[in-house]
Amino acid sequence: VKPISVGLLGLGTVGSGVVKIIENHQDKLSHQVGCPVKIKKVLVRDLYKERGVKIDAHLLTTDVNEVINDPEIDVVIEVMGGIEETRRHLLNALRNGKHVVTANKDLMALYGSELLTVASENHCDLFYEASVAGGIPILRSLVDGLASDRITKMMGIVNGTTNFILTKMCKYGAPYEEVLAEAQALGYAEADPTSDVEGLDAARKMAILARLGFSMNIDLDDVQVKGITEITEEDLNYSKRLGYTMKLIGIAHRDGDKVEVSVQPTLLPDSHPLASVNDEFNAVYVYGEAVGETMFYGPGAGSLPTATAVVSDLVAVMKNMRLGVNGRNAVAPQYAKRLKSPCE
Ligand code: NDP
Ligand code: HSE
Repeated sequence: VKPISVGLLGLGTVGSGVVKIIENHQDKLSHQVGCPVKIKKVLVRDLYKERGVKIDAHLLTTDVNEVINDPEIDVVIEVMGGIEETRRHLLNALRNGKHVVTANKDLMALYGSELLTVASENHCDLFYEASVAGGIPILRSLVDGLASDRITKMMGIVNGTTNFILTKMCKYGAPYEEVLAEAQALGYAEADPTSDVEGLDAARKMAILARLGFSMNIDLDDVQVKGITEITEEDLNYSKRLGYTMKLIGIAHRDGDKVEVSVQPTLLPDSHPLASVNDEFNAVYVYGEAVGETMFYGPGAGSLPTATAVVSDLVAVMKNMRLGVNGRNAVAPQYAKRLKSPCE
């Protein structure tokens, strides 16, 4: 049986997790799609770096064309980060007929609409579950599990790094710089952690959530953002004495055609469920007109949790390839022809 060939862009925190899951869960992956999954090429910057994962040295390359122009590669997984250069690579990959899975919220928040259009024009899948809330399958839940409802509000903690920092500062009085360094060492923070601590990473995720949840075009510039850099240990101690916990909270709210999206540090009563979401964990409340209140909770950052979302997207792509279709919940053409409109 011919394996599905994957080209990986990036072999850092998330990329290493992807390699491990593809190797360790190979049986389950191939059982679901009827053929094995093989990593054919991996783009890195430094060929000689020590890596936390075993990989054949001959798979590594510093030339992106060896991945996105390889006719044998079916799916490109992008876990390298970055915006402009990465956008060009993914546009080229899609135009070459490669399906794409990405964990890149920076890119999807800014250029998601362009990339999705090019994917659709080229009959390719473009899935990005890992871009919001790491290991929590929140995007799937919005477009699939809650497809019948009208979502009015989403609220929660969508950045693991800042939640880790606030938790350690608040619970153990740890100094900000020290905990930020720990979050970086654990692989939670962005390459430039400014986007975490200044709230931009959370803002990008809230924009992606709002677009999917409200089916509207949300401009990132319209998201009001304030990060955690001005919060002091004294602020946290004082709020603790009053029975409150500080969290970086994202809110997306719809009222008719009007949508408001914001990210800001917020004091929550200790009894609020979000107040006990600690460390790198994330949690998102989704309110629907019919369903009422739902809450999604899980690890919001880190190698294996994030890679789970990436590889689950890969499985969705492979299932579609098998049926010759694209998109979420797509129907194979041979069945689509037989489908009658329920209105007929
Ligand atoms: P890392 O910095 O750990 O890894 C990036 C990888 O990409 C490295 O292997 C690096 O190569 C390679 N790379 C980066 N730029 C280039 C380039 N220009 N050319 C070739 N190779 C390049 O990042 P993460 O794994 O943490 O994050 C990857 C993506 O996933 C980002 O978009 C991030 O926002 C997103 N994400 C991360 C999460 C996390 O918990 N870390 C969670 C959810 C999403 P080399 O190793 O040689 O330096
Ligand atoms: N830097 C991000 C965070 C990674 O801390 O949430 C997950 O998107």
